[in-house]
Amino acid sequence: MSQDSRHPFLKGLSKHRGAQPTIITIFGASGDLCARKLVPAIYNLAVDNLLPPEFSLIGYGRKPIPDEEFRKLAHDSIKEFSRRSLNEEIWKRIEDNTYYCSGGYDELDAFKALEAKIESIEKEMGREAQSVIYISTPPSVFEPIIVNLGASGLATRYQDSGSHTKVVIEKPFGKDLESARHLNKVIQGVLQERQVYRIDHYLGKETVQDLLVQRFANSIFEPLWNRQYVDNVQITVSESLGVGTRGGYYEQSGATRDMIQNHTMQLLALTAMEPPVSLDPEAIRDEKVKLLKAIKPLNLDYAHSDVVRAQYKEGLVDGAKVQGYRQEEGVSADSETETYAALRLNISNWRWEGVPFYLRSGKRMPRRVTEISIQFKRPPSTLFSENEMFNLAANSLVFQIQPDEGSTVLLNAKIPGLQTRTQPVKMHFKYSATFGSNTPEAYERLVLDAMLGDGTLFIRGDETEASWNLITPLHDFWASEGQRGMENYVSGSWGPLAADRLPWDNTHEWRRP
Ligand code: NDP
Ligand code: BG6
Repeated sequence: MSQDSRHPFLKGLSKHRGAQPTIITIFGASGDLCARKLVPAIYNLAVDNLLPPEFSLIGYGRKPIPDEEFRKLAHDSIKEFSRRSLNEEIWKRIEDNTYYCSGGYDELDAFKALEAKIESIEKEMGREAQSVIYISTPPSVFEPIIVNLGASGLATRYQDSGSHTKVVIEKPFGKDLESARHLNKVIQGVLQERQVYRIDHYLGKETVQDLLVQRFANSIFEPLWNRQYVDNVQITVSESLGVGTRGGYYEQSGATRDMIQNHTMQLLALTAMEPPVSLDPEAIRDEKVKLLKAIKPLNLDYAHSDVVRAQYKEGLVDGAKVQGYRQEEGVSADSETETYAALRLNISNWRWEGVPFYLRSGKRMPRRVTEISIQFKRPPSTLFSENEMFNLAANSLVFQIQPDEGSTVLLNAKIPGLQTRTQPVKMHFKYSATFGSNTPEAYERLVLDAMLGDGTLFIRGDETEASWNLITPLHDFWASEGQRGMENYVSGSWGPLAADRLPWDNTHEWRRP
């Protein structure tokens, strides 16, 4: 069976084949993300025949690297990290068009040299080629790169045609509302919004895209998708990994900036937004912004706080002993950075008023799970009231975003036999069973969409500001409180006990994924 006939999203993409001639430049190309995700994504697009015939890749970084060496690095990273094994023939087509330019991120002359390189490649192609600039550096140099894209003229190439330059910007997009606003201003001074692709790689995950399909291509869920029927919604993004070698970065970030402000809030927005008027990128992003703006400010008062933060201590994960966060490399021995955060959010609109949304994300939890659970209200009927014959559970619909992608509906059913006894049962839809398991990686979809000029799965400037607007007061509060209120949890557990208090009225409890 071909990829296209198996996979609905690839099928949808086939109409886009033959994207215009493209030159991708990756800033920070000697880094981790480029090796683990970006180069393998480009390779897999080539395997799926989704790269245009005229395609070039340029790496850019401060350290001089000969073209040959960069080609070898790229080759080896495909070998190590690609989801599909390396086919030398396909790689050769990319390799022959791969180059490296070196220079500082604040060095205008180096940007001009890059532009000259792009023009010479374009001349060889013999056709107008769009530039896709992928900024994969630490955020401290996002601003000088954007400014120099403007000053060198790279930002304004083919400004008035579909071949205009597209700029992909990695996360984190700012560290608070003020810095996000500042970065948006810098961007607006150089680029038009249609040229900007702010990454949140969760939006590139198949099952996150499927959320829109399940909600809006079926008629059975939407009538129930409101305060009348939904009791609460829980979004869990847990990881079993610790901070690994990223302690230095993580100390400045913490779970709320690293995972909640972006990935988890995007999942929330897609789950709770109103139906968009079309699948047009702006229509979807308009609805997400409306939803994010409707979230009530967090209550930070200790007695009724909407938030819990915690750090992992040593413990056992997958049977192996792991160290506590404060013992990790690059982490301060008295760190105040949270590795777990749980939030209770209330959305003030007609659909959701009064329905709590619980969000949590943490490292060093028992398993890597991302899921969205819609917990429905119990039925009003007294026919099957709770007694020992009737083991009843509230209905739920759970979207398993990763791993074991799919969805599950929890129902109550009669146990076969002469007595009327009930038991909760599950109806599963498993992605891999239906479509096979060779699903494209998020970065494949996102790199392709940027090449195609489709911003649907990227974040608009006002979206990121709306999300920071909610989270920034929380960070200010924590900064003023120091260690106060910081909980601990044992590595390999589902978080601190204090998080169990968050569903405060005791009618809710966290789902165990
Ligand atoms: P790296 O730390 O590996 O840095 C990428 C490159 O940027 C380096 O190879 C280096 O290239 C240059 N660089 C590093 N530090 C500095 C500095 N202080 N000033 C200027 N340049 C520097 O980053 P990653 O590849 O891990 O991440 C890139 C971006 O992607 C970041 O914004 C990160 O937040 C984001 N991201 C990364 C993920 C990951 O899994 N790695 C996941 C999600 C997002 P040179 O010395 O050659 O100039
Ligand atoms: C990144 C975070 O954005 O997402 C990491 O910076 C985290 O800390 C990663 O591990 C998780 O992504 P995924 O796709 O593995 O769930």
